[in-house]
Parts: sequence; structure tokens; C-alpha cells
Amino acid sequence: MRVSGVLRFLALIFALVTTWICIRSYISLNMKTLRLPRWLTDLATKEIPVVRTKCGLTKPCPKEFFAFKISSGAANVVGPTMCFENQVIMSPVKNNVGRGLNIALVNGTSGTVLTQKSFDMYSGDVKLLVKFLKEIPEGTLVLVASYDDPGTKMNDETRKLLSSLGSSYAKQLGFRDSWVFLGAKDLKDKSPFEQFLKNNPSKNKYDGWPELLELEGCVPRKIV
Ligand SMILES: *[C@@H]1O[C@H](CO)[C@@H](O)[C@H](O)[C@H]1NC(C)=O
Repeated sequence: MRVSGVLRFLALIFALVTTWICIRSYISLNMKTLRLPRWLTDLATKEIPVVRTKCGLTKPCPKEFFAFKISSGAANVVGPTMCFENQVIMSPVKNNVGRGLNIALVNGTSGTVLTQKSFDMYSGDVKLLVKFLKEIPEGTLVLVASYDDPGTKMNDETRKLLSSLGSSYAKQLGFRDSWVFLGAKDLKDKSPFEQFLKNNPSKNKYDGWPELLELEGCVPRKIV
């Protein structure tokens, strides 16, 4: 009687252990069958190639063209940004932008940045801008972005000089307008690269300012 009792106890232990092992292997089998289909795991792990364009343009530029992107300032809060051939020339991060007009000069043949400067058009000295515009060398590309107020100090001479770079809107630029532009020294025609938004209290996106503007494109390299 005692021997059979021990045997029964051992049989019970054996049954429990085998059941446990069975359950475990069943679970792990199920885990394996749960594996994702190959095409799905491939999709998840494979790197989807990202085509990075210069300056983050929506389309890459053809050969012999320079890529550029200009954003105006947003109200009087965020400064403008200018990118040329994947190089950020002016931006709030670079800490070289200011209220008024932000202007960068680029050699139209080599694509090298010559200079960049911002001109306070609210309380600044407009003579500095006139001098700057008059001294632009031949074959130079001119990138312009407004920030806050590009218009208060505008005079006829500046409007004329900016128009001679190919601008259509320099003539009417006023208090707190948004303006982005790419032109060139002594351009004979009007530049296709320009956007303008008049400050209009009933249409403004921000309280006292129109929406910021973005301009991107490919400008042909000047062949000498
Ligand atoms: C522009 O680049 C060309 C070619 O590198 C050079 O010959 C010319 O002198 C440059 N012009 C200016 C204004 O830097």
C-alpha cells in the first residue's frame, strides 16, 4: 500500500511535468508561426532610399543650375532663411539676419557667396542700402528676404535699384509687406523668382503681418 502510494505520487509528478513541457513547446511553436510574412519584414527593415535634394527642394536641379530656397521672416518673430547650393547663407540659427531687408550676393558663375547683410528699413539709414546695391559687381546673383518691415524707409532710388535687378514688386514694397526675391545685376527682363504679399489687416495671417513666403527654384549658372 505504501509502495503504490509513492508510485501514484511519482506518476502525478510525471504527468504534471510532461503537461508543462507540452504547453511550453506549444506556446513557442505558436510564437514561431506568428512571424510576419517576409515581404512585410523586408519592408520594415529595408531602408527606403531618400533622395536628398540641395536645400531640400521638391525637385533636384538640372546640371549647370544652382538650387536655392528663400523664406521670408514670419511676422516679427522668426527671421528669414536663405539656402544656396545646399549652403545656408543666412538664418536665425546663423544669427546673421535682421529686421528689414536681408540680402545675399552670390557669384553667378562660380556660385560662391560674396557677402550677406541685413538692412534695417524701419529706423536704419537707407543710404547704406543704396551704396550696397550700387556696388554689386557684374554677374552677381542677388537673394532678398524681408523680415518684419522692409518698406518704411524705401525711397525712389532704392526701388529703382531693386527693379534693375529684375524685381516687379520693389515699386510697391511698403510697411510690413512680405517679400522674397532672387535677381541679378543688370537683369534685362523681370526675374521669374519673386513672391510678394501686401500687408492687409483684413487678410493678414498673423495679427499685424501677412503670411511668410517661400521661394525655391533652380537658377541657371552664368556661362562666361
Ligand atoms: C566670379 O567667379 C568667376 C569664376 O570663378 C571669376 O572669374 C570672377 O572674377 C568672379 N567674380 C566676382 C565678382 O567675384
